[in-house]
Amino acid sequence: MKRRIALPRSEGVTSRQAHADLPPGTYERELGRGGFFGPATHMYHRRPPTGWRTWEGPLRPRAFDLNRIAPAPGDPWAASTVLHNAHVQYRFWRTSGAMDTLVRNADGDDLLFVHEGRGDFFCDYGHLVIEAGDYLVIPRGTMWRVAFDGPAELLMIEATGGAYGLPERGLVGAHAIFDPAVLDTPRLDDAFRAQQTPDGQEETWRVRIKRGGEISTVTYPYNPLDAVGWHGDLMPVRLNVRDIRPLMSHRYHLPPSAHTTFLAERFVVCTFVPRPFETDPGALKVPFFHSNDDFDEVIFYHRGDFFSRDNIACGMITFHPCGFPHGPHPKALAGMLNPKRAATDEIAVMVDTRDPLTPGPVPDGVEIHTYIDSWRPPPAGEGEAG
Ligand SMILES: [Fe+2]
Repeated sequence: MKRRIALPRSEGVTSRQAHADLPPGTYERELGRGGFFGPATHMYHRRPPTGWRTWEGPLRPRAFDLNRIAPAPGDPWAASTVLHNAHVQYRFWRTSGAMDTLVRNADGDDLLFVHEGRGDFFCDYGHLVIEAGDYLVIPRGTMWRVAFDGPAELLMIEATGGAYGLPERGLVGAHAIFDPAVLDTPRLDDAFRAQQTPDGQEETWRVRIKRGGEISTVTYPYNPLDAVGWHGDLMPVRLNVRDIRPLMSHRYHLPPSAHTTFLAERFVVCTFVPRPFETDPGALKVPFFHSNDDFDEVIFYHRGDFFSRDNIACGMITFHPCGFPHGPHPKALAGMLNPKRAATDEIAVMVDTRDPLTPGPVPDGVEIHTYIDSWRPPPAGEGEAG
């Protein structure tokens, strides 16, 4: 049994409370292990830890504009892989209209996040309407298809070989952040029965099964989504971001882990939703600089004005592998203690992975190569006051 070296020490000038009452003129960085749960040190720097001038080599902060990903109408298995490792496939699916086949993922649970669009989701378990802001957890092996009303854009996050669950709520109890009662499940309703093959008739339905990344197709002479009933504790669930009531403290900037929504074996999914800024005069109002040295971090920007990021728009992702510190961009940093607004209106989905992610082969124009320079201070007069 390994016991970690737990040896609190203090050197030089520090705050006694992380993320508050920083020594004047300093920038705080958290050097942390275990994704904000493990050993950590708070360091007080004279300059922002993101003040680099140049980078060489493969490691670097990266950003991708998923609005430029190629469409894959009707075929989730043709969605572009943006990032991946052995435990997660992070894909973006631009589609429209109704799928004319069923699909089944034999490689792991899928988590869909609807960025744009509205549609009818049909699966073994019944029918659900899905719309922008919905997460939909689809258990491995579920047969499904979606009929969208028009264009749609979705994140598809596969927990390869794994399954999604909910985090422990600890001190705040089971009904904080969101009540399990807000989770919706498919219903065997009129819309579901209407898509079944009538008795005595035949119609061709194909099921495209993904296993080991390869597709096999099974053809039925009827629609196999023909359940008349079910009971159990395995089923797709839907959660809309408007039903998330974020944890916050008016005196302390909570770490991203407070916003964990789903857990898989080797990664977590967090959701940032609108909330007031901290009001204590000494509390940080923007994310503290951090070296999250056991995780690669990916943030998808869904809605709103991204308060800690300059020049990021909806439909983009930022990818910060571990190995370097990151934190607020210069314009946001200028409001570190005195934000211009009372609240954030951003909605973003963060995936933090234990294992290194590799970018997929994305088309030219998707990666934003200037992102690495985005922490350069703005020319005089352009920063926010404060
Ligand atoms: Fe981070």
